[in-house]
Amino acid sequence: MAGFRDTSQIRISSRVPPDLVVLADETELGRVFLNLFENARRYGRGTYTGLAEVHVSAQRAGPWAIVSVRDQGPGVAPEKLPQLTTPFFRGDAARTAATGAGLGLAIVEKAMQRMGGTLELANAPEGGLVAHLRLQRAEVPAAAVPRVQSARDGRA
Ligand SMILES: Nc1ncnc2c1ncn2[C@@H]1O[C@H](COP(=O)(O)OP(=O)(O)OP(=O)(O)O)[C@@H](O)[C@H]1O
Ligand SMILES: [Mg+2]
Repeated sequence: MAGFRDTSQIRISSRVPPDLVVLADETELGRVFLNLFENARRYGRGTYTGLAEVHVSAQRAGPWAIVSVRDQGPGVAPEKLPQLTTPFFRGDAARTAATGAGLGLAIVEKAMQRMGGTLELANAPEGGLVAHLRLQRAEVPAAAVPRVQSARDGRA
């Protein structure tokens, strides 16, 4: 992750509810974020700033947590969106670059599936590419929730 501390290339901000807990494998999830951040650094830089500005947010959706990773780059042509997770698929601009095999998003999708979740890629209405990571929400352990005395206590 050291490369992502280089603030001349990438800036990552996040807004995540502190009590939102997901069921996930730490290594797999790390791999997911690493691939998305690296893609933002390569393809998701803002035209004016030359900087990849990535925002991570999360919200509840029933039994799920949706974690969204968005950059402010040019996004992807809509007809190419479904192909991004195909192994070895690379966009036009990316093909001329020396680095990259076109495997990152295929790996991300598989990792999400292994954790019982899903990956969805879209162009954000505000611009840039957004990856929605759907993960199972974990129940917060009872010990972490403040105890409320039951009204029936002592009467039974
Ligand atoms: N944040 C993004 N903004 C715009 N295009 C993107 C973004 N992320 C990925 N892409 C496009 O999707 C293609 C596939 O991405 P993927 O991560 O699978 O492969 P890669 O980055 O080219 O290579 P690798 O990840 O194996 O090093 C990229 O080549 C690029 O064209
Ligand atoms: Mg990649």
